[in-house]
Amino acid sequence: MTSTSSSPKILVTGGAGFIGSHTVVSLIEAGFEPVIIDNFSNSERSVLVGLRTILGRDVTCYPVDCNDEAEMESIFQKEKPIGVIHFAAHKAVGESVAQPLKYYRNNLDSLLLLLELMPAFKVPNLVFSSSCTVYGQPEQLPVTEETPRLPAQSPYGNTKAIGEDIIRDAVRAKVPVKALALRYFNPIGAHPSAQIGELPLGVPANLVPFITQTAAGIRPGLTVYGDDYNTPDGTCIRDYIDVMDLADAHVQALKKLIEKDMASSYDVINIGTGRGETVLNVIKTFEEATGVKVNYAIGPRRPGDVEKVYADVSKATKVLNWSARRSLAESLRDAWQWQQKIS
Ligand code: WQD
Repeated sequence: MTSTSSSPKILVTGGAGFIGSHTVVSLIEAGFEPVIIDNFSNSERSVLVGLRTILGRDVTCYPVDCNDEAEMESIFQKEKPIGVIHFAAHKAVGESVAQPLKYYRNNLDSLLLLLELMPAFKVPNLVFSSSCTVYGQPEQLPVTEETPRLPAQSPYGNTKAIGEDIIRDAVRAKVPVKALALRYFNPIGAHPSAQIGELPLGVPANLVPFITQTAAGIRPGLTVYGDDYNTPDGTCIRDYIDVMDLADAHVQALKKLIEKDMASSYDVINIGTGRGETVLNVIKTFEEATGVKVNYAIGPRRPGDVEKVYADVSKATKVLNWSARRSLAESLRDAWQWQQKIS
C-alpha cells in the first residue's frame, strides 16, 4: 500500500540522513505521508533525488533546523502531522568529546522543542532515535532493555541517555505524548536500488563505510582496532543491523503508538539482529559476498571501544511484531553496490 494525499502525515526530523531517508521509503510503502525536516548539516540534497527515483514522486522537505522554533511551529501548523520520528542529532562520537556543548545544545534542545510543540498541536505519537551506546560495556550479553544503562562513553551517548530520560519524565508528568525510544545497534547497508545509502562526510568513523571505501580504493587500507580482545578471533563484537530492517522497525513502532494499546505511554526497545559479529568476520563476509579483497592491518585498540555488545531482540518481536530479516552478507552487498554508485 503506498501513501495518498489523504495519508496520515509523519514529521521525520533528520529525514535526509542515513536512517531517516530509508525510513521515509518504508513510511510511504506503509501508507504514511512523511514530511522531511533537515538542515542538511550532515546530509546532502542528492538524497532527495535518490528518494524520488525510488518512489517515483517527490517527498515534502523543509530545509530547516529543528531547533528553529518559529519554523517548526509553522510546519506543525501547516502539515498537521499525527506523529514525529526524531532522528535529527549530531552523532559523531569523537566530535562530541571535542565539542560537548554543541552536542548537548543541538541534540537536547531539538527534543525539548518537539515535546512542547507536539502537545500544542495535539500530535501524540513520538518515535525517538536512541542507541545501544547507552549500555556501555554490559555485564551480561545479549543486552535486554532491562540491562542497566552505564555512564555514557561520550557526550553523544549521554545525549541519547538524557533524551530517553526527558521523554520518560515528560510522559510521567502527563505531557500528552506516547513515545517509543528505539535503541539501535550498528546500522549498516543501503537500499537495494543503490539510490540512497550511507554518506559519511570526510573520513568514515564507522567500520562498514571504511571497508567499502577501502574496497573502492578511496582509502589505502583499513586498520582493525585491536585483535587482543576476549573474543573468538580477538576483534570486537557488534550487532550489525540492516538499515532497511531498521527503517521497518520505525514503521512498526509508529503503528504500535497509533494503535493506542501500549501498556504505558513510554517504552524503550532494542533494535538489532540478536547476533554478534567480530570485525574480522565482517571483513571476511564482505570479501565473500562481493568477491572484493579488503586491504587491512591490525592496529592498536581504539579508546572508548566496548569489547562486545549485541542485542536480545525478543521485546521488539513481542511488542512490535518485528524482527530483522536481512543477513550480514546482504547488507554488505547492498553497501558495496551503493559505494560503487557514489565512487
Ligand atoms: C564497530 C567496530 C571498531 C572502524 C558507533 C557509535 C554508536 C552507534 C553505532 C549511533 C568497533 C571497529 C571501526 C575502523 C575498526 N552510532 N572498527 N576499524 O563504535 O560500535 O558504534 O556506531 O548511535 O553510538 O559509537 O561502530 O562502526 O565505529 O565500530 O576496527 O576503521 O569496528 O573498533 O569494534 P561503534 P564503529
